[in-house]
Amino acid sequence: MQEQLKAILESAKQNIANASTKEDIEKIRVDYLGKKGQLTGILKSMGSLSKEERPIVGKIANEVRESIETMIADAAAAVKAAEKDVKIKEETLDVTVPGTQRKLGAKHPISVTIDEITKIFMSMGFSVADGPEVETVFNNFDGLNAPQNHPSRDLTDTFYIEDQENVLLRTQTSTVQIRTLLSQEPPIKIISPGRCFRCDTPDATHSPMFHQVEGLVVGEGITMADLKGTLDAFVKKLFGPETKTKLRPHHFPFTEPSAEVDVSCFKCGGKGCSVCKGSGWIEILGAGLVHPNVLKVGGIDTEKYSGFAFGMGVERVAMLKYEIDDIRLLYENDMRFIEQFK
Ligand code: PHE
Repeated sequence: MQEQLKAILESAKQNIANASTKEDIEKIRVDYLGKKGQLTGILKSMGSLSKEERPIVGKIANEVRESIETMIADAAAAVKAAEKDVKIKEETLDVTVPGTQRKLGAKHPISVTIDEITKIFMSMGFSVADGPEVETVFNNFDGLNAPQNHPSRDLTDTFYIEDQENVLLRTQTSTVQIRTLLSQEPPIKIISPGRCFRCDTPDATHSPMFHQVEGLVVGEGITMADLKGTLDAFVKKLFGPETKTKLRPHHFPFTEPSAEVDVSCFKCGGKGCSVCKGSGWIEILGAGLVHPNVLKVGGIDTEKYSGFAFGMGVERVAMLKYEIDDIRLLYENDMRFIEQFK
């Protein structure tokens, strides 16, 4: 029996040495010390020993049990420690690893320019009106007094919505003039920034999509002097206090008289440089007194009221201000370009 106990101790030692998980160790404990375990079996059979042998074997059996218990406890502690090590390794945070960068974008120069223009007109008491980019032929042409044969109505100039002859992508923000005249009573004083579309092949100065800011003022006794004064105050705020304006006669169906408006070159002050192409002047918008036929669309009494309107090319202003030499740069989403406007 003593031999058996020795053998049990040896085999337990072996098994425990090979155990690597909590489950292995628990199985060993049950195998040796459990109710039906090997050591328990021996202890149970001790009744068959002689009186002399019993205390001796009993002592050895107790020592074996204690040894096995100690070995199991040690092994369990070792496994626990190893598991903890693994967990710590897994959860290690290396604070020296470079983080994921979230790059902050920048406001697009078109938005910067629209914001700036809007701010100036708001400071002069204008409010901001809005209109859709998909428009009716009436709001884009008919209501604006455009003759039936006006070249811009042509399919080659305007994007019409397929199967809908009367729906198009607006070619100008002047559509908001009609919307405003139909929905508001004078006095009217609005600007309206937004996108426009024309069938243009892209090049350095043309894009099939571009932006305009429309302006409309209707009230009693409004004259060309009000138009000129308003635009003069505006360009001085936008380009600097030295800036001068020049009105050149022009034609638009929806204004009479009409003018194209130039500003003195903010770069050279009018002497002539590469920005103004040597002329000293830069064209930035079209304007005029609202044609009576347009006022009539809004049911406005043309004996009592008159008004002025203007339409400004946002890309043109942005390109001049920031000296951008190709309009396509504005739409390429190249971070190297956009980041310069942070
Ligand atoms: N809508 C005109 C254009 O796109 C500009 C304009 C607006 C002219 C208002 C006069 C009055 O060219």
